[in-house]
Amino acid sequence: MLHFSLRPFRTDAPTAFVMHTNDPTVAANLTDPIPHPYTEAHARAFLEEAMQPVPLRRCIEVAGECVGAIGLHPKVDLWRCNMELGYWLAAAHRGKGIMTEAIRQLVPQGFATFPNVMRIVATPFGRNVASQKALEKAGFTLEAKLIGTLVKNGRVEDEWIYAVRR
Ligand SMILES: CC(C)(COP(=O)(O)OP(=O)(O)OC[C@H]1O[C@@H](n2cnc3c(N)ncnc32)[C@H](O)[C@@H]1OP(=O)(O)O)[C@@H](O)C(=O)NCCC(=O)NCCS
Repeated sequence: MLHFSLRPFRTDAPTAFVMHTNDPTVAANLTDPIPHPYTEAHARAFLEEAMQPVPLRRCIEVAGECVGAIGLHPKVDLWRCNMELGYWLAAAHRGKGIMTEAIRQLVPQGFATFPNVMRIVATPFGRNVASQKALEKAGFTLEAKLIGTLVKNGRVEDEWIYAVRR
């Protein structure tokens, strides 16, 4: 039995949120708007935005503490029927199936909340096996492997494209 819940973000407890987000393995696997080091100022700005209805963001709460984040971000222009899924979890809680279940819960919420959205996409780095496995277990299909499309921390990375359709 997994003891976690997805709940809306609040602006309280930014210090604990900073502690988890400042783990270098978090920023190393995400896009650059989540920096390392991650400061209280970064957390305050994030939490303010995270309370808006769009992007649809949820805090992953374990034992009353926010230990991770998951969100659906609308794409624009020709991609406007797509949303991008992003997530991270504090190191102490990994490997227990929490993110697989969080993805399983958020995806139907996203399709229900945004009726125009036909496809939810996630793009882990080629080396991010944990993220790829969580996506596969949650029902995503690997659509493409793009080689050397990304640069993270000065290193060229592969981009694997996973998606689930309505
Ligand atoms: C990716 C991440 C969210 C996964 O969360 P999680 O709750 O640990 O994921 P789950 O436990 O649901 O599933 C992870 C799976 O990967 C496996 N795994 C973890 N590390 C692995 C590794 N280095 N190599 C192979 N498999 C690995 C786990 O064993 C598990 O598979 P299993 O259930 O078959 O045993 C978490 O590792 C994380 O926050 N990483 C840093 C940020 C990040 O990468 N975000 C995603 C960006 S696309």
